[in-house]
Amino acid sequence: QTVAFAASGGLDSCTVTKWLTESGVKVVCFTADIAQPDESNFDEVGTRMRACGAADYVAIPLHEMIAESGLEVIQFQAKYEGNYWNTTGIGRHVIVAGMIPEMRKRGATVLSHGATGRGNDQVRFQLCTNMLAPEVTVYAPWRDREFLKRFPGRSEMIDYCNGHKLPIKASKSAPYSTDANLLGLTHEAGKLEHLTTEPWFVTPGMGVLPKDAPDAPESVTVRFEQGRPVAINGTATTAFQAIQTANALGGKHAVGIATHLVENRFVGIKSRGVYEAPGMELLGTAYAYLLQLVLDRRSRELFDHLSQFVSKQIYQGYGFDLATHMARSALAPITRLATGTIKLKLYKGRAEFEAAEDVPHQLYSEANASMEAIGSFDHADSEGFLRVLQVSARALAANHQVTA
Ligand code: ARG
Ligand code: SIN
Repeated sequence: QTVAFAASGGLDSCTVTKWLTESGVKVVCFTADIAQPDESNFDEVGTRMRACGAADYVAIPLHEMIAESGLEVIQFQAKYEGNYWNTTGIGRHVIVAGMIPEMRKRGATVLSHGATGRGNDQVRFQLCTNMLAPEVTVYAPWRDREFLKRFPGRSEMIDYCNGHKLPIKASKSAPYSTDANLLGLTHEAGKLEHLTTEPWFVTPGMGVLPKDAPDAPESVTVRFEQGRPVAINGTATTAFQAIQTANALGGKHAVGIATHLVENRFVGIKSRGVYEAPGMELLGTAYAYLLQLVLDRRSRELFDHLSQFVSKQIYQGYGFDLATHMARSALAPITRLATGTIKLKLYKGRAEFEAAEDVPHQLYSEANASMEAIGSFDHADSEGFLRVLQVSARALAANHQVTA
């Protein structure tokens, strides 16, 4: 039996690979290349995993998939509980979607991962695998009592790896755990578990903290065509390049860096995260301004429902199910109208509206909104409209249904 292990190359990966190999299991390690900003050296990871006993090592190139998935998160404005851009949530979907075809090529029927038994990631790995490859079994060492008995904590893993002379990286335990991909970094656990540790405790990996950002603001122009960022500051971009460029520009000005959230995990407990997603925040903010120029009140209301719904779907690992697919169809007519150029001002952690241009479908009309006597909106016409509203308002008063 072949176990396909989703390996980051860290201590867990080494321990699990060695431990499974020792019990006679054939382990093939896979690392998704989702443009982790720390840019793991995949050759090095491969060498390390083979040294831990892996029968094979495969780096799966997924730049385009992670970029397109991130773009969809932007189009849905699918932030979880207010301000988390769901970067790990969508990342897990991409990893599984990338692994399944590679597993099938190699006849692997067990997918294994290093997510703990208390988090969201285990759910995402499980549900995505079950949906994309129902024949595949998911094995999580962190929920295996045998494994837990052998490795109650990190130090036992370090001893074990050292005992086997495995090439683990620095044994010094990090102050928190970080998950990374093109779209962002998520920091959790360790010192961040204490609410007395402030969010700025983290060392940003995708930019700087607001206090370290430049004193001069910088403008950036994003051109969207049918929901896609096709140019930044006039230079044509693919989705991948747009996110990369926005990461650099946003990170430089601390936009989307060290976003703090105490969130409700799917498993029912609250956890605390500090997040970095400069490009998502920059592009997502620009996109939000564009949408607001285009959407009328009713489409906006439905959009907000879709947004909240899909954000939860992605967070919980349901990004491939029927409901998400339905939401996607409902979103398509909006995305088609999302064309325009939005100029933002980046300044010490903030991305603010500066200007909008060339928005062919915008409903905002200077003439109609103006207090000047122009446009087709005649103030006097509102007299009748207000008289109609007055009838029901007075009826409430007459029937003692008003509370001051
Ligand atoms: N709380 C976030 C989420 O559920 C981040 C998870 C971070 N995972 C990690 N291994 N650091 O998506
Ligand atoms: C983990 O527990 O493995 C990471 C955090 C999460 O999955 O929510």
